[in-house]
Amino acid sequence: MSAIFERRSIRKFTNQGVADEKIQKLLEAAMAAPSAGNQQPWHFLVLKERGTLTQITTIHPHAMMLREAPGAILICGDPTLEKHQGYWIQDCAAATENLLLEAVELGLGAVWLGIYPREDRVQGIRQLLGIPPEVIPFSLIAFGYPNEKKEPPFRFKAERVHYDKW
Ligand SMILES: Cc1cc2nc3c(=O)[nH]c(=O)nc-3n(C[C@H](O)[C@H](O)[C@H](O)COP(=O)(O)O)c2cc1C
Repeated sequence: MSAIFERRSIRKFTNQGVADEKIQKLLEAAMAAPSAGNQQPWHFLVLKERGTLTQITTIHPHAMMLREAPGAILICGDPTLEKHQGYWIQDCAAATENLLLEAVELGLGAVWLGIYPREDRVQGIRQLLGIPPEVIPFSLIAFGYPNEKKEPPFRFKAERVHYDKW
């Protein structure tokens, strides 16, 4: 629960790099996510090259933090790995949230940048990174050491909860 409430979108980062061991933990957390029939229909691209991170800002209009983030992880869906068609989106979303929560545990800040279903972003990212046509860039998570602090969110709304019947 503490990681859930500490997690906020962090868009300002210090210039400190993130050790590969921590990136490995982010990936392990992401791949521990639940998926339909345990199909795990995902791929991960670890992005650290400054030029690549900067180029993404020309494709994605709400990703300017990539100019200072030391890294990002792109989560892609691969429908050819599915046993249960159409669930890859939910599977990749679960992996994305797991990664964000692990970032909190590691003292990192991170932000989820939406790629899918915006076709221009999907195509632009696919072309930039040489991703095969059957693989779909889903989300990009910029990460680094936080250079801003935010309050825990509390968004519980009793009126959105329905018991037994609507
Ligand atoms: C599917 C999805 C797409 C998002 N895309 C972006 C984005 O492109 N750029 C960005 O800065 N934040 C993006 N966010 C982060 C949201 O703006 C953020 O989660 C929301 O404002 C709530 O704030 P919090 O994460 O600090 O609790 C995205 C979040 C989700 C779940």
